[in-house]
Amino acid sequence: MVNAPLLELRDLRRSVRLPSREELHILRGIDLSVESGDHVAIVGRSGSGKTTLLNLLGLIDHQTGGELLFDGLDVSRLGDRRRARLRGASIGFVFQQFNLLDGRTALENVMMPLMYGSAGQFWRREKLALEMLERVGLADRAQQLPSRLSGGEQQRVAVARALVRRPRLILADEPTGALDVTTGEAVMALLDEIARESEAALVTITHDLQVAALSRRSFLLDEGTLHDVRSDHAREALSATVGLRAGREAVAAPPAGTAPSARTSPPADAARTAPLQETQA
Ligand SMILES: Nc1ncnc2c1ncn2[C@@H]1O[C@H](COP(=O)(O)OP(=O)(O)O)[C@@H](O)[C@H]1O
Ligand SMILES: [Mg+2]
Repeated sequence: MVNAPLLELRDLRRSVRLPSREELHILRGIDLSVESGDHVAIVGRSGSGKTTLLNLLGLIDHQTGGELLFDGLDVSRLGDRRRARLRGASIGFVFQQFNLLDGRTALENVMMPLMYGSAGQFWRREKLALEMLERVGLADRAQQLPSRLSGGEQQRVAVARALVRRPRLILADEPTGALDVTTGEAVMALLDEIARESEAALVTITHDLQVAALSRRSFLLDEGTLHDVRSDHAREALSATVGLRAGREAVAAPPAGTAPSARTSPPADAARTAPLQETQA
């Protein structure tokens, strides 16, 4: 028997009714199939609908059209309790701002999802959490409070927490957004490595094309649909965006008095590697 892909999106749509009674079509028909062990990146400027899409994939929000199949199962047919159970058991989340509970140690944070796990996971929660902390290289920081850890260490704790129940799908929303370049790349490499080990699928949302380049496949979310980053549409959209701000440094810290436009333009190919400038929606 041929296995269904872990995730299958067919003409997936999400629109919202604005107070003006106008309909805002955020996602206009997304088709995507993600297999176990795959790593997909989705890039897009701010306001393009990335978080909306992630909330659908994470069974947090409901689509307004099309289909979302998880392991062949049409999730729109599930009641809230079954969705919550499926989410807890099968999906791990990593956020830009880590979202660790302060006042709880690193170990307690990683143990948290196991409180809702199977009986076996519950009783072995401390051991499993310690193993996961060890896997992300933080066994010696288990008793630290998040506020005493660096940003990179906090994100590694968050990765351990997301993965401790061995989810089949990992959703990362701008996981490197609050980290410096080197730390961000290390965190991405770790996430990718652990996802592969456990044959989980990883979907990373990012505005940084260098982060996206670490995935197997990258798509641009634009005008409510996905485009392979190598497609003509994506190249055009990306070079138009990159034209606003040249390189990573220009985005991170433009030197005082230096207009971004004063920087040398990137070569046309830089569209695939330079970060996307986030513009406020
Ligand atoms: N519940 C909502 N009601 C009204 N507008 C929304 C709602 N959710 C999202 N939007 C709008 O949809 C667009 C996409 O939002 P979002 O998915 O958060 O984008 P991104 O994560 O790419 O920045 C934005 O213009 C946002 O303001
Ligand atoms: Mg967002």
